[in-house]
Amino acid sequence: MSVNSTQTQGGPTTAWSPDSWTHCDAEKRVAWPDEDALQEVTKRLSRMPPLIYAGEARRLADELARVERGEAFVLQAGDCAETFDEFSADRVRDGLKVILQMAIVLTYSAGVPTVKIGRVAGQFAKPRSADTEVVCGETMNTYQGDMVNSRFADVDARTPNPENLIRSYDQATATLNLLRGFTKGGFADLADVHAWNRAFVASSSEGRRYEAIATGIDKALELMRACGVDSRSLHEVDLYASHEALVLAYEQALTRQDSTFGDRWYDCSAHMLWIGTRTKKLDHAHVEFLRGVGNPLGVKIDKDTEVDHVLGLCERLNPERTPGRLTLISRMGRTAIADRLPRLIAAVRDAGHPVVWMCDPMHGNTFTSEGGLKTRRFDDIFGEIAAYFDVHASLGTWPGGVHLELTGDNVTECLGGSDRISDEQLHDVYNTACDPRLNANQSLDLAFQIGELLDGFRSNL
Ligand code: PEP
Ligand code: CO
Repeated sequence: MSVNSTQTQGGPTTAWSPDSWTHCDAEKRVAWPDEDALQEVTKRLSRMPPLIYAGEARRLADELARVERGEAFVLQAGDCAETFDEFSADRVRDGLKVILQMAIVLTYSAGVPTVKIGRVAGQFAKPRSADTEVVCGETMNTYQGDMVNSRFADVDARTPNPENLIRSYDQATATLNLLRGFTKGGFADLADVHAWNRAFVASSSEGRRYEAIATGIDKALELMRACGVDSRSLHEVDLYASHEALVLAYEQALTRQDSTFGDRWYDCSAHMLWIGTRTKKLDHAHVEFLRGVGNPLGVKIDKDTEVDHVLGLCERLNPERTPGRLTLISRMGRTAIADRLPRLIAAVRDAGHPVVWMCDPMHGNTFTSEGGLKTRRFDDIFGEIAAYFDVHASLGTWPGGVHLELTGDNVTECLGGSDRISDEQLHDVYNTACDPRLNANQSLDLAFQIGELLDGFRSNL
């Protein structure tokens, strides 16, 4: 296996290879019960075709570089955890519809292009706070995502099974195939902007507001057609795939050397990969693995992350300071963000590191409802985003984008929004395998509110 030598500024000179992470400590390492079975599976995976082409990852990095320059906004969104059971063409389509609708609302309200990245086609692994739990008197592993074990509360079902890596790959392949069909084959044509509005959304106040935008787009398209203007970008969209790179055996098996341009390694399981907040130690396995691949990367930053740690991540993951390479995703919670985020942004800016700043208003605002379900309040989600815009306005930096957990389904997992989902209603349609997601109405509602923030921000520039 060939090895790249990488000098990280301020750090030791170390050789990187796709398996150099195996020599590092790691949080959340999966306890696979049978190492031979794992090896056999990863060998099979490493012979499978890549899921993405390196050139697509480079194109996303270019688009993120535009975001960094303040010329575009990025919407990264999708399920907290994809599952094998709930996989269907309709669910993939409906998730895409919400993202397309939100992107249109953002672009229409603020006049900036929206880069679209799904938490999709690989978002199968979850870092859980506890390794084990007791269910009906029995101690078992916690659910770690379908890539690792089953949600079903049973000691055997909760034992990590490496065959799940193959199932994840297969489902990611089918998902990406369908998404490529939808985004390039006519479904995402701007002329069909009305068709993305689902019946239950269309009858809501935000659905009607969306219809007004869609009618405005129809008129603009008519004018363009009359003037002879036509372009591919009116008929197709780019939707990039991303997930948390948590199970490194899977990521390593899909890491390939780009045979067309140069000899850089790419993790071909997705266009963009991110490191979760629990696995971001500088000398640990997840940072070690991802520093060596050419994909655009994200790192989640929680409220307790220190300035030195953030600067260390920038040095280690982007020593060449390439614009578009690194996105820092703050997930601090509505009450902490105004206090904790400004010093990090200022330090990164003063050190001259190019990064995209993104706000994840979901993971710092989770709590258990009176009825015992994990939930989030719509107002806290929007509140964190509004505070994030204020922080950037006061520092003169660009609020690059948002990172959301949502679904196209009509679920009742987050409280509030225009449907005023109450504590008692949470049980009605609570389907998530992990964290509570915004439903399609709440997502569209949020897009309108973010659009207004973005418009206001830009008019004050
Ligand atoms: C997630 O994005 O689903 C997640 C677990 O995030 P974090 O690492 O920010 O907790
Ligand atoms: Co989550």
